[in-house]
Amino acid sequence: MTDSPTFPADFRWGVATSAYQIEGAVAEDGRSASIWDTFSRVPGAIAGGDTGDVACDHYHRWPEDIALMKRLGVDSYRFSIAWPRVVPGGDGAVNKAGLDFYDRLVDALLEAGVTPFPTLYHWDLPQSLQDRGGWPARDTAEHFAAYAAHVAARLGDRVRDWATLNEPLCSAWIGHLEGTMAPGLTDITAAVRASFHLHLGHGLAAQAVRAAAPGARIGIVNNLSPCEPASDRAADRAAAVRADGHVNRWWLDPVHGRGYPADMLELYGVDLPERPGDLETIATPLDWLGVNYYFRQVVADDPTGPLPHARQVELPGRPHTAMPWEVHARGLADILRRVTEDYRPRRILVTESGAAFRDTVAADGSVHDPERTTYLEDHLAACAEAIRDGVPLAGYFAWSLLDNFEWAYGYDKRFGLVHVDYTSQRRTIKTSGHRYAALIDRARRLAAQPVG
Ligand code: IFM
Repeated sequence: MTDSPTFPADFRWGVATSAYQIEGAVAEDGRSASIWDTFSRVPGAIAGGDTGDVACDHYHRWPEDIALMKRLGVDSYRFSIAWPRVVPGGDGAVNKAGLDFYDRLVDALLEAGVTPFPTLYHWDLPQSLQDRGGWPARDTAEHFAAYAAHVAARLGDRVRDWATLNEPLCSAWIGHLEGTMAPGLTDITAAVRASFHLHLGHGLAAQAVRAAAPGARIGIVNNLSPCEPASDRAADRAAAVRADGHVNRWWLDPVHGRGYPADMLELYGVDLPERPGDLETIATPLDWLGVNYYFRQVVADDPTGPLPHARQVELPGRPHTAMPWEVHARGLADILRRVTEDYRPRRILVTESGAAFRDTVAADGSVHDPERTTYLEDHLAACAEAIRDGVPLAGYFAWSLLDNFEWAYGYDKRFGLVHVDYTSQRRTIKTSGHRYAALIDRARRLAAQPVG
C-alpha cells in the first residue's frame, strides 16, 4: 500500500469465520449432523479425507480466539451460527445448550469490545432437512425463518447486525449444480429451486429477525466477481454477460426488487417455484449488503461447457493464490463501484476478503507470509479507493481469523491471519495478522486527526 489510505472514523475493522469451518465438537451438547458432516464422509469429496469434526476446536477454545481478536485490534467479528446446534431437528424444538454457546460467545465479544456480526446460515443445513428435500423444497425456507426467530429472540438484545445467508451462490450452484459442495448434486432444476428458496428463506428470516429484535439491521452476503470478456469477440462478450448473470445478477436482482434476470431464466430453462407475494418477500428491504470478493472472472464463450457456457481463462503472468485464484485487488474496487451504481445499497460491508498461500512455520515458530500481507494491503487500498469514489463502504472483514476447514480442499488451504497447528491447536499470529493490526491502528489514528 503506497500512501496511507483513509477510512471513516466509524469504519468497522473485522475478521470473519464460519461455524463448520472452525468449531469442531460436531456431536456435542445436542448438535445434530449437517449436510457437511454427511458430505465430508463421501469418499473422495474432500481433499485428504478431512472433516470438520475437530477443525480449530473453537467450540472449546473461543476465549483464546477472542483474545487473538483483541491482539489484532479488530472491533468486529463475523461468525456464523450453526443451525444444527440451535434446532437440531431442522424444525421444532430448540436446543438450549446450542443457543447458550452463542450467548456466551456474544457476551464475551462485547466484553472484549468486539461487535458481533452473526450470519444465520453458512452452509450447514441440518441433515434431517436435507432428508426432507433440502433447499429445493419450500418448507426449508420456512424452517429457516423459524430458526432465525429463535436466535434473534435470544441474542437480539445484544446483536444489532445480522446476515441471513452466506454466499447462496455456493449453496445453490456449487452444492446443487457442480456437486463439489454439500449436498453434492448436479441438477439444474434442483439448483434453481434451491436458489429461489434460499432467497425466500432470506426474506422470511429478515422479517422474523426484525419482528423478534426490533432495531435489527439485516444484510445478505454474496460472493461477487467482476466478469470480463477474454477478447473483443462478440461471443466472448456475450459469455461475460452470462457469467455476470450467473454470479452477480441472479443473486443481486431479486433481493433488490428486480425479480430474476430474464436472460438467465431462459438460459437455465427451469420454472421458478414462485407463489404470489414471494418476490416481495425476497425483496424485503436490506440495511446493508455484504460483499465477499476473492477474484474476477475473465471468460471465453464455451457453448458445450457447463452452465453458464463461459469458461474462465487464465491470463498469462498474473499472480495467483494457492487455490489457485488470480490476485486482482482492483477487481474489489470495481465490484464495489458497480454494485453501488446498479443497486444503490444503503451500506456495504466487505464481509470477506482474503487469500490462501502455502505458509511455513519457521524454526523459531513464526509464520512469515509476505504474499498475504501484500494482498491485504492492496485490497484495503482498493476499499479506500472505492470509498473515495462514493461507495458507502462501512467495514472490512478479513477472511479469516484462523486457518480452518476449507470445504472440499480440507485443511490444505490456509486463509488465516492466525496460523493453526492442527495437531496441537496452537495458534500463531502470522506477519499478515501483525500487519493488519498496524494498518487498523494507523487508519484509526488518521481518522481521529482534526481535518484541515
Ligand atoms: O472459506 C470460504 C468461506 O466459507 C466462504 N467464502 C470463501 C471462503 C474461501 O474459499
